[in-house]
Amino acid sequence: MNDLILHGMIDAHVHLREPGATQKEDVLSGTQAALAGGVVGVLDMPNNTPPITRTERFAAKQALFATKAVADYGLFAGSDGSHLDQVVAMAPQAVGLKLYLDETFGDLRNREPRSLAETFEAWPGPGPIAVHAESESIRVSLDLARRYRQHLHICHVPHPDELLAIDAARQQGVTVTCEVTPHHLFLSDEAVGRLGSLAQMKPPLVSPADRDLFWDRLPLVDLIATDHAPHTREEKAAADPPPGVPGLETTLPLLLAAVDEGRLTPERMLELVYTRPLEVYGLAAPESKVVLDLSQGRYQLPMDGYHTRCGWSPFGGQWALGRVVSVTLRGRVVWQGGELLASPGSGRRLERAVSRDLP
Ligand code: NCD
Ligand code: ZN
Repeated sequence: MNDLILHGMIDAHVHLREPGATQKEDVLSGTQAALAGGVVGVLDMPNNTPPITRTERFAAKQALFATKAVADYGLFAGSDGSHLDQVVAMAPQAVGLKLYLDETFGDLRNREPRSLAETFEAWPGPGPIAVHAESESIRVSLDLARRYRQHLHICHVPHPDELLAIDAARQQGVTVTCEVTPHHLFLSDEAVGRLGSLAQMKPPLVSPADRDLFWDRLPLVDLIATDHAPHTREEKAAADPPPGVPGLETTLPLLLAAVDEGRLTPERMLELVYTRPLEVYGLAAPESKVVLDLSQGRYQLPMDGYHTRCGWSPFGGQWALGRVVSVTLRGRVVWQGGELLASPGSGRRLERAVSRDLP
């Protein structure tokens, strides 16, 4: 017996593709992939088809999750800059507002300076404004957060130097938090040669030297989120492949191997994947327990055979540690021995913590 017992991961950045693209993933397959990876809660992004920029779309998506999710969840509101009254109306139910300042998958964009400023001004919280922002857009969003006194969360920081810019803004009093993805920590742009479009995502992978700098500067990072962005193999093999890679089932085992190698402490790992995601989004911890079996030691991740509907992983061949044996949510075993024991709809909306102060 060499079992590790954790509360599991709270993944603050996933794309479960429902509604709109259920050939890639849906709420049930995505939350099942979450449990398979020891992820007990997911925060789902609004770049669906249609995008979640209206109250009735938000309500419909909430109803979908309420009937289909097997892990706990929170949903982001989105905005295309119009109908700000609707964006404001979604705020009490949403974990945060997601804005897209740069090019990526889907049609949602927030590039027009005036409406972007109006959106920053209008957002009432309590969740943060999370942004897809690369290089210059990071500066733009930091300025807006300063001007409108908003809590800004920078998603998937594109380059380790941006961690220094974010930290400098934080030192100057801007309320800013940030996340790094497992692919920016465990893959480099060398993977693109090996995997082609399967290693393409936004923001793109960095050089091996910059990847190492992400590790050196990990103390400046609030949380690790997967940016689980499944696309089918066929879509990835097409002429103009969509950016994005899955990550729900591989992140904890990759991080546990890194802990085993002494690259971070177990305490810091738990902060990055569990405590801090809850704090950043002001959420209460669900009652959860994840048991991982470490007895087989290190192993290499497979290329396929995953529960995510897309079925593949860009991390095939990477060293990992720990296999999820069981997941318990609110006292009920929902996942055991690779099998789902929960019924669709047993996942709950993550509740707000009593205190909203960002420590
Ligand atoms: C994401 C997707 O496919 O929805 N793709 C990606 O490359 N990360 C969108 C996003 O988070 O940028
Ligand atoms: Zn994303």
